[in-house]
Amino acid sequence: MTRVLIVEDRQSLREMLEEFLGGKYYVFSSESAEDAEKHLVHYPDIVLCDLRLPGKSGIDFLSVVKEKCPESEVIIMTAFGDIPTAVEAMKKGAFDFIPKPLDLNFLSVLIEKAEETISLKRKIETGRQTFDFLGESLVFKNTLSLGKKYAESDMPVLITGESGTGKELMARFIHANSPRKNQGFVAVNSSAIPENLFESELFGYSKGAFTGAQNSKKGLVELAEGGTLFFDEIGDLPLPLQPKILRLVESGEYQRVGGEDFLKSDVRFIFATNRNLKAMVEKGLFREDLYHRIASFTVNMPSLRERVEDIPVLADYFMQKVSEEMNAEPLILTDEILEKLKKREWKGNVRELKNLVEKWVILGKIVFDDGKEQYSDRIDIQIFPDKDFKDYSEEFEKKLLSFYLKKHKGNRLAVAKELKMNYKTLLSKLSRYGL
Ligand SMILES: Nc1ncnc2c1ncn2[C@@H]1O[C@H](COP(=O)(O)OP(=O)(O)OP(=O)(O)O)[C@@H](O)[C@H]1O
Ligand SMILES: [Mg+2]
Repeated sequence: MTRVLIVEDRQSLREMLEEFLGGKYYVFSSESAEDAEKHLVHYPDIVLCDLRLPGKSGIDFLSVVKEKCPESEVIIMTAFGDIPTAVEAMKKGAFDFIPKPLDLNFLSVLIEKAEETISLKRKIETGRQTFDFLGESLVFKNTLSLGKKYAESDMPVLITGESGTGKELMARFIHANSPRKNQGFVAVNSSAIPENLFESELFGYSKGAFTGAQNSKKGLVELAEGGTLFFDEIGDLPLPLQPKILRLVESGEYQRVGGEDFLKSDVRFIFATNRNLKAMVEKGLFREDLYHRIASFTVNMPSLRERVEDIPVLADYFMQKVSEEMNAEPLILTDEILEKLKKREWKGNVRELKNLVEKWVILGKIVFDDGKEQYSDRIDIQIFPDKDFKDYSEEFEKKLLSFYLKKHKGNRLAVAKELKMNYKTLLSKLSRYGL
């Protein structure tokens, strides 16, 4: 829920605002800037602040908010005659100002706009996040270096591959390695936006474009300006919208809904699909001209079946990451378990592997679909007629020690501690077994 902090010294107005906004937002309020500062630890999303306050002014408080909660948006309430100060506030980073007496409809619109800006900023931020893109196999490394090469150019790139193979991660990887890396990464999911809203979401609309359009609104294209626009599930883009995307990709031109002028954008395009676009073109389900425009630089994400040698790396990585996130003890993935993982079909690819590991961490044990529990701490000894007691003991010691070494990621001191073993004895055994 969006959190709104109200700072207003006049009690009647403050209470009215609390009541008006309280139904829809999580509201807290203060009668002075000094008092409001203590609410900043709760990171309000939106601050609605009077300009004239006893003590610290609204402008001073704006600076405090911008320093302590740079992600919050501040709306300043001003009395008649305070416009020059309000303009100053805008220069200092206020989101907008609203004149008093307050028009509550206008206030609602402003707050909604601020919410939109905040959520879009967050989307862009996640585009900048660092991420791990793992794989040791040759096919994966080749894919990665192709992505890197394409990243340097500004050409549209198409990423294909089965579900869960890492197409979105590849799109972010390309952006992060491109000259536009410090600008935004905006993702558009072609199948998630209803067809009738697609244009206004993407291109924005101008004031009065339709009933309810009291103000103009920027679209995602404008938001991605200077950065990368990622069209996910492009195979699901309805045919009637395809010419508009073609025009956008070819010339950067687009029109806001209800707008007359052509606007020009400067963005880099990345597309992704798990469909066979070429086959769709043959069936008349996807425009051929758009296909050729976007498919010249294609990166195909290999399925997990094509890179089984990456399964242990990925499984270990997810085990560490997921257990850390869930504050749980990581389970040990023995060679036996990893071998079993390698033999699966993995229709859902990397995502399926991640989900499976997540399930294990939640359950606190390793269970396969066949219902058989796999104890991650079982050590098997092979029985052979010509082995003697010493052979068995050594085999057991070796397996036991390598199991604990793996558990403690090679930290020998931790192994000795857990096994309540003399450290020197441990070291000599490790060297004897070549561990
Ligand atoms: N090589 C990798 N290293 C680490 N994590 C990965 C890797 N590939 C994929 N993932 C993770 O697997 C999940 C699925 O990846 P992503 O969403 O990029 O796949 P996708 O191909 O876009 O899937 P879909 O077709 O279902 O949209 C994500 O959580 C992603 O972080
Ligand atoms: Mg995806």
